[in-house]
Amino acid sequence: MKVFVTGATGQVGSSCIRELKSRGMEAKGVSGKDFSLTDTETLRRALLDYQPDVVIHSAAYTAVDKAEDEPELCRRVNADATAEIAKICAELHAKLVYLSTDYVFPGTGTASFEVGSETGPLNVYGKTKLLGELAVREYVPEHFIVRISWVFGPGGKNFIRTMMKLSETHEEVRVVDDQVGSPTYARDVAVLLAHMIETDRYGTYHATNEGFCSWAELAKEVFRQAGRSTRVIPVLSSEFPTKARRPRNSRLNKSSLDRGGFPRLPRWKDAVGRYLIELAKEE
Ligand SMILES: NC(=O)c1ccc[n+]([C@@H]2O[C@H](COP(=O)([O-])OP(=O)(O)OC[C@H]3O[C@@H](n4cnc5c(N)ncnc54)[C@H](OP(=O)(O)O)[C@@H]3O)[C@@H](O)[C@H]2O)c1
Repeated sequence: MKVFVTGATGQVGSSCIRELKSRGMEAKGVSGKDFSLTDTETLRRALLDYQPDVVIHSAAYTAVDKAEDEPELCRRVNADATAEIAKICAELHAKLVYLSTDYVFPGTGTASFEVGSETGPLNVYGKTKLLGELAVREYVPEHFIVRISWVFGPGGKNFIRTMMKLSETHEEVRVVDDQVGSPTYARDVAVLLAHMIETDRYGTYHATNEGFCSWAELAKEVFRQAGRSTRVIPVLSSEFPTKARRPRNSRLNKSSLDRGGFPRLPRWKDAVGRYLIELAKEE
């Protein structure tokens, strides 16, 4: 099986390439260092030259706050380029995996969002990722749309890495406690995707690590497992105004995985532990 992976330098993309190769699959990764996905001609040529059986489209404009100032560029990358990839997959009869996000939801209430719950993104990034989902559904019947949240993994700028850095210099940190969701370890998603693409159980899935927490609870767990003495002061989001609005409730219901016959991801505390080991090796 030949798999073309976009966003190969990113947390999820790099994890996918490693996982696929470890299973003996052929994988080609591209990132913004090779060409921009907004360069439609080069994108098309790269896909036609490689003739993939599967495309894992992990690349995205992921700078959520900056996107509020660059809505056009964000839309071109997340929506238009995704539509282009979807059309090419349809021509090639290739399966398409599209990584999406909890940010397609409005974040209201406290119940977990089902795959079919009403969407209503609060920011530019979420709106453009939702447009990407719509394009994938429109052009490629053989698709997997996999919504993840609060990602951490190799090489990335992520919350856990930031907390670990802060703990080197701070006795206490103030962390938002009124946004609740689930962390997602990129390596665990990669294992799921490598399994998924060998099936024809197409559709939309939610795939985060199991269990819910707030950012403050996540920070506390990171420090506990890493043996750091830094204290976490839980605060309200209003203390850290950001350019982009963020959902308070990012709980995703994962029963779609059960229905599809896929195993759920490990619990988030377990994933944090494995990532801390990986992080220690990276540094
Ligand atoms: N991070 C999260 O918390 C989170 C949460 C929910 C969903 N997601 C989704 O999960 C997927 C993977 O996220 P991630 O955290 O692994 O991303 P990431 O670490 O930020 O990496 C993004 C990747 O996309 C590439 N990229 C960005 N703009 C590009 C462009 N114009 N042309 C070509 N490549 C471009 C980057 O390449 P270069 O670095 O070489 O430019 C990089 O390889 C994304 O689709 C994202 O929307 C992420």
